[in-house]
Amino acid sequence: MTHPDDDGFSCTAEAAEAFDDIPRSGPANDTIGAVIARRFSRREMLKGSLGVTATTLLFGGAALTARPAGAAEARPFDFAELKAGVDETHHVAEGYSVNVMIRWGDALFPGMAPFDPNRQTAEEQVRRFGYNNDYMAYFPLDGSARGVLCINHEYVNPEVMFAGIGGRPDRNHFAKITREHVEVEIAAHGVSVFEVALRDGTWRPVLDSRFNRRITAATEMTVDGPAAAHARLKTAADPTGLKLWGTLNNCAGGQTPWGTYLTGEENFHGYFWTDKVGENGRRLNRGFGGPQQKSYERYGVPSNWVSWGRHHERFNVEKEENECNRFGWIVEIDPLDPQSRPVKHTALGRCSHEGAEMVVNGDGRVVIYTGDDARFEYVYRFVSSGTYRPGDKAHNMRLLSEGMLSVARFDGDGTVSWLPLVFGTGPLTPENGFHSQADVMIDTRLAADLLKATRMDRPEDVQPHPSNGTVYIMLTNNDRRKPEEVDKANPRAQNAFGHIVDMRAPDSDHTADKFTWDVLVKCGDPAIASVGALWNPATSADGWFAAPDNCTFDADGRLWISTDQGSAWSKGTNKADGFYALGTEGATRGLPRLFFRAPVGAEVCGTCFTPDGETLFLAVQHPATDGVRDWKQFGKESSFEDPATRWPDFDPAMPPRPSVVAIRRKDGGRIA
Ligand code: FEO
Ligand code: CA
Ligand code: CA
Repeated sequence: MTHPDDDGFSCTAEAAEAFDDIPRSGPANDTIGAVIARRFSRREMLKGSLGVTATTLLFGGAALTARPAGAAEARPFDFAELKAGVDETHHVAEGYSVNVMIRWGDALFPGMAPFDPNRQTAEEQVRRFGYNNDYMAYFPLDGSARGVLCINHEYVNPEVMFAGIGGRPDRNHFAKITREHVEVEIAAHGVSVFEVALRDGTWRPVLDSRFNRRITAATEMTVDGPAAAHARLKTAADPTGLKLWGTLNNCAGGQTPWGTYLTGEENFHGYFWTDKVGENGRRLNRGFGGPQQKSYERYGVPSNWVSWGRHHERFNVEKEENECNRFGWIVEIDPLDPQSRPVKHTALGRCSHEGAEMVVNGDGRVVIYTGDDARFEYVYRFVSSGTYRPGDKAHNMRLLSEGMLSVARFDGDGTVSWLPLVFGTGPLTPENGFHSQADVMIDTRLAADLLKATRMDRPEDVQPHPSNGTVYIMLTNNDRRKPEEVDKANPRAQNAFGHIVDMRAPDSDHTADKFTWDVLVKCGDPAIASVGALWNPATSADGWFAAPDNCTFDADGRLWISTDQGSAWSKGTNKADGFYALGTEGATRGLPRLFFRAPVGAEVCGTCFTPDGETLFLAVQHPATDGVRDWKQFGKESSFEDPATRWPDFDPAMPPRPSVVAIRRKDGGRIA
């Protein structure tokens, strides 16, 4: 079914791709073309003077620069590469087994009936695995044989979730989405927390575990940090500004060494709604917020991606103007205390947080990196004021309440400067609309604009290596970057395929004011010169990828990448999204290898390894949806009744289901 305005989306991920009708970060702060030249002449100088390995590998028309000597090469990847392609099911490298461990709708508690997609209720959904599983983390209870998994449920695809919708909902009117649908959607969002155990070689949920819990878009939470209890967080339902309900669009996240789970609220603006429809029949998205209008428009509130605001006043911006300020945060959840209230940490700023990956610095302070996943947005770093105390969970759970948030500027000489977002310093003053640190945190994007941070090509996962001081930035793509907006860290105009930047903290000090940076790979097909890809010369036709989104390190400290091309795969690469090993150092720097690929219309997002490296949990999100209209074998949008694939059940009575799989070696031992 074609959307009346031909946007043809309802899911937030695809909507994010298409989302361009609000002002983004300001004009390019340091545009160039000449800066690339500056960058390379600096390279030449470094070769001779600072002991940088002089090897430059030429490939795809660009130069892949070797890393400084001393960066250790990890254990080489050892698996036979999978063939790239796309079909209705998943595939993994030879010698590995894939076990579908849990699917949307599966019970999380004992005594529940099998899932019936034709009889969904909110009461049922809140006790079952939610929709569109994304980031996940494993918390060991008994090493690598038993643990608690936390998994985000980012958004919903009503067209393949509910019978009778008949395709993607008309996002202006949502005529077929009832209040009952909305209540199920709310219950299908959030986070699942549940115990898993490995028995007889197979991972299964433990339904009678005391840890099992569903957190939804309605669960009670609290908030701390500079914006807690601020007037802009107070609503009619919560005059304290301290009592919040729900978490939204939970994309990626992080895991703390004190055993808590961090979840990033990404495209929260899409959940805010107005009843007002313009003369063109489209729901309005500008002119709201009263004195907060500038903030609303910088964040894209309201974007009317779901119709919750029709039934819940708090999501209607004409009825409640501060509810939107209560989303867009990093939320901390204690998975081992099912009674605990999740906490939104406003000290980490408000944006479309992809994730929140943490490293403990040498001096004990904790450092979190977070990307703001939208075109031309920024990369942020939080440094805690306090220091980590092993074994003191109560103390450690306060570490994200106070600290310094900074935003990154990538300079042409290969330096990253971290610019602190502190009220009263530089331009962050009342004259520019900032009256407190709370304002700086609520309007992080506006503050970062004033500091002239570097506008990036959709920063998704920003992940520190566990020990060597390197930080990897996934830059998914940005097809809106114009030639005159190209800069050194975002070197391609109309960047359809994305790239990866790596930063180095000097002496592994993640709190330093300045890092160095480099481009690790520029994605896309290296055989097509106009793509301008940059890979290791040994890259195969199956190995190159596009749209790096999430990444994770395995037990050997090796980098793995999951991709999210959205609907572009069917026009761009003709490869399903996948999970790839990627060399980062020495001779294999920039060498990708395909390990797993998703069924048609799905992306691979959250992945994590058990501590022994023998199991990989992997989330397959939104099967049968993205790009299937342009897939020759199908050629239309999916519906509940007629989806492009019924993965993973392939049961004619069951729609496609987002699911988490567990991957192991058939002959035992570490993966790859
Ligand atoms: Fe939810 Fe940034 O992908
Ligand atoms: Ca993502
Ligand atoms: Ca990650």
